[in-house]
Amino acid sequence: MTVRDVVPADWAAIWPFLHRIVAAGETYCYDRGSTEDQARRLWLLEPPGRTVVAVDTEGAILGTANVHRNQGGPGAHVATASFMVDPARAGRGVGRALGEHVIGWARAQGYRSMQFNALVETNTRAVALWRSLGFRILATVPEAFDHPVHGYVGLHVMHRHL
Ligand SMILES: CC(C)(COP(=O)(O)OP(=O)(O)OC[C@H]1O[C@@H](n2cnc3c(N)ncnc32)[C@H](O)[C@@H]1OP(=O)(O)O)[C@@H](O)C(=O)NCCC(=O)NCCS
Repeated sequence: MTVRDVVPADWAAIWPFLHRIVAAGETYCYDRGSTEDQARRLWLLEPPGRTVVAVDTEGAILGTANVHRNQGGPGAHVATASFMVDPARAGRGVGRALGEHVIGWARAQGYRSMQFNALVETNTRAVALWRSLGFRILATVPEAFDHPVHGYVGLHVMHRHL
């Protein structure tokens, strides 16, 4: 598996699984009915942001991540990132590889820390992954996410220094 910059032609392979994850409504504060155009604008970032894909040895796209400034101006030294792994490829280390790549890139760019603003507390797989990559939960905003199965659940703010 390698991680590389996204190119426009990758979108056709990203959209089906990204749509599946967004439409499930369990992990992101995105409109579950987001159109393909809206999702493309949201996901594919221009510099200084960056969007990457994880690909296997045959070039198939396994997952994607984006990373950008969490705030502007005096807050621009803190990065944030988002991750989507094709559910059909889950549990095989793609999320970890994307996480490690994004952390290394953000550090090399001079970001001082990385913050995840809204990690759904029932997303235990993601919470375990980010903890194992050095993030800790700073706070949990109570009942901030309306989960389709669990109802109102908390959103973790997670952070690590780079
Ligand atoms: C969360 C997500 C990015 C993880 O990607 P993944 O490729 O499945 O994760 P990995 O295979 O790299 O597993 C990483 C860690 O997740 C955890 N994990 C994996 N499978 C798990 C499972 N079935 N149950 C609980 N934890 C699990 C483990 O801590 C694992 O660590 P390990 O490498 O020591 O085994 C992916 O499931 C995803 O895109 N989910 C939908 C969108 C989302 O939640 N994005 C993240 C929000 S910030």
